[in-house]
Amino acid sequence: MNNVEGKVVAITGASSGIGEATARLLAERGASVVLGARRVERLDDIAREIRANGGDVVSRPTDVTRREDLERLVGAATERFGSLDVLVGNAGISKIGPVADLDADGWSAMIDVNLRGVLHGIAAALPVFRRQGRGHFVTTVSTAGLKIVPTMAVYAATKNAVRTVMEGLRQESTDGVIRTTSVSPGFVDTELDSSIDDTALRDQSEAP
Ligand SMILES: NC(=O)c1ccc[n+]([C@@H]2O[C@H](COP(=O)([O-])OP(=O)(O)OC[C@H]3O[C@@H](n4cnc5c(N)ncnc54)[C@H](OP(=O)(O)O)[C@@H]3O)[C@@H](O)[C@H]2O)c1
Repeated sequence: MNNVEGKVVAITGASSGIGEATARLLAERGASVVLGARRVERLDDIAREIRANGGDVVSRPTDVTRREDLERLVGAATERFGSLDVLVGNAGISKIGPVADLDADGWSAMIDVNLRGVLHGIAAALPVFRRQGRGHFVTTVSTAGLKIVPTMAVYAATKNAVRTVMEGLRQESTDGVIRTTSVSPGFVDTELDSSIDDTALRDQSEAP
């Protein structure tokens, strides 16, 4: 059974890695996809290829740290396709390193993208989901939040914060309108290690 066909799915962090692969697969299976990320040329190339393969796609420049960008991404889905079934909050960065390095800027950046970015998506899509009477939030968290290891404390903290928000949201959705899913991949070979500033760690990285 293909329960993806005809669905409208918006994906943040769709310009590479897991988000890009998710977009391509969903489009192949008949979903209309709405792509968001900051690297617009990448999004344009991916959208062109999806379209060439017969897929339905639209993209919007999206920085998840900006609430208005998520409003625009969700708006693109409803304007172009009439609804939004799923928002995949996937954008993420990994500025890993020992806490003792006191990389306060890296901590803030991870909180802004990994946590605040997902909250901005919820703020943008929740009213639409409630109006429609259905909607599904999916997020890419991490096994790093399940098994805590050195150098990943703050990264894991952001992922566990997202897991907590999604569980709270699920519990609050007593009428069944809102569904939530947190996906926890282990290591996937993507561009995620490019966001690691510590060169020694980046070199030995098995990205979280
Ligand atoms: N790779 C792994 O082993 C692994 C394991 C578990 C979980 N994860 C999680 O999976 C998710 C996807 O990561 P990936 O591995 O596919 O890495 P990736 O290839 O680096 O993809 C990260 C995506 O996030 C986007 N992004 C980063 N900052 C953004 C911002 N401020 N606004 C909007 N988009 C932003 C990037 O696009 P732009 O730069 O174009 O904006 C890119 O599309 C992340 O949440 C990551 O934490 C990865």
